Amino acid sequence: MDYKNVKGTHDVILNEADAYSFIEAILRNVAERFNFKEFRIPVLESTSLFNRSVGESSDIVRKEMYTFLDKGDREITLRPEFTAGIIRSFVNAKLYANASLPVKAHYVGPVFRYERPQLGRYRQFNQFGVELIGATSLYHDLEVILMGYEALRALHLDNVKILINTLGDQNSRDAYRNALKEHFIPVIDNMCPDCKNRLELNPLRILDCKVKEDKQYIQSAPKIKDFLSDESKERFEIIKDVLKALEIPYEIDDTLVRGLDYYSEVVFEYHYTTQTGINYGAIGAGGHYSSLVKEIGGPSLDGVGLSFGVERLYSVLRDDNLLPDFNELRPLHAIFLPLSEKTSDAAFALATLARRNGFISDIDYSYSKVGTLLKKASKANADFAIILGEEEMEQSNVNIKNLHLNSQETISLNEVCDYLKESYEKMIRQQEEEIEMNLDEAKEYES
Ligand code: HAM
Repeated sequence: MDYKNVKGTHDVILNEADAYSFIEAILRNVAERFNFKEFRIPVLESTSLFNRSVGESSDIVRKEMYTFLDKGDREITLRPEFTAGIIRSFVNAKLYANASLPVKAHYVGPVFRYERPQLGRYRQFNQFGVELIGATSLYHDLEVILMGYEALRALHLDNVKILINTLGDQNSRDAYRNALKEHFIPVIDNMCPDCKNRLELNPLRILDCKVKEDKQYIQSAPKIKDFLSDESKERFEIIKDVLKALEIPYEIDDTLVRGLDYYSEVVFEYHYTTQTGINYGAIGAGGHYSSLVKEIGGPSLDGVGLSFGVERLYSVLRDDNLLPDFNELRPLHAIFLPLSEKTSDAAFALATLARRNGFISDIDYSYSKVGTLLKKASKANADFAIILGEEEMEQSNVNIKNLHLNSQETISLNEVCDYLKESYEKMIRQQEEEIEMNLDEAKEYES
């Protein structure tokens, strides 16, 4: 039997897993600087949660959800996104009454969408995101947009493009929907079957259509900006003014409607093209929502949030060489090399002691020739190899080799940890001296 990973899923292993942890740690750190707190919610939710919130007209609900009946005949869905689940947890815990508002949540984990796998598109992928629930000021929208921007800066993604648009309030959207209906009805028979459906369910979705032949009808469609209420118009103007004042680069995209039904007012996406010109699709996206909390059973509260696709962040960082060398960040301090079974016990005891003292240590039980063992140790990027030969062990000694300097010493068994400690302290002192020397040289050069 040839077991393969399920189509659209992928394994994240070794250095790639380090990279994911690194990306998530940076995103978490920035979110926490904005005072977002961690929420961990289940992967399994009732299907009805998404039908209502993400919306019957969205592609996600219409064709992409992993939905099944569990053994108790409950309709369950693997979450296709976090926002609905986070709001459900907020409502279930009655945080609207028990916590001070806004509640600021950050989250990370896998989400599932039955999409056609392609570059940057998986069926199981990871999102990191934030939700600010109980938003009362347009500065709350700005805070989320800014948090996303700062997170990308912290990852050294400097040439990010932020696309923004407004979908206006309910009245603006109702007027716009009617105008779109009037525009598309005469041409709908020439458009794709999906668009025919969308016309009935939510004509705004037609603007999201990717079919080339449909573009001509979409380009000539009315624009939301002509249907905005004065309030929505003003709100959007202020958001743009503040972004400008903060020198946050943005572009207005009046075709940006987003693929989920819960948005109103401002929506946004973060885009990044790699140095070799690859665009993996939006690396993050979000927006404001006005009726989601109420729809999920809470009071009438506004919210705003965004989610990043961790896979897409990883791809652009990898392509543009912006990831650290994880072998250097996570070194192997010491590798213990028993040369025969007789010295394995001692190797085991020494490695345990070294690990207790904080040294990343491993043991090679292959009992190969010393040369072969040392070659393997170098390849594993170990700093020190501790060789346990029977002869030396009879004197309670081991040979310890600095694999970078290629120097070797014989020391007592009891000294191994102290030796490692002193060696690293010396290395740190040398590094500090080098930095000081470089600074002195730079100062001299300046004067
Ligand atoms: P979304 O645009 O559906 O929004 O997804 C957010 C991000 O997830 C995208 O920008 C992209 O980076 C990543 N993503 C989406 N689909 C895939 C896929 N098939 N494979 C890999 N990455 C993907 C939401 O999910 C909203 N919940 C965002 C939000 C939060 N709005 C308000 N709060």
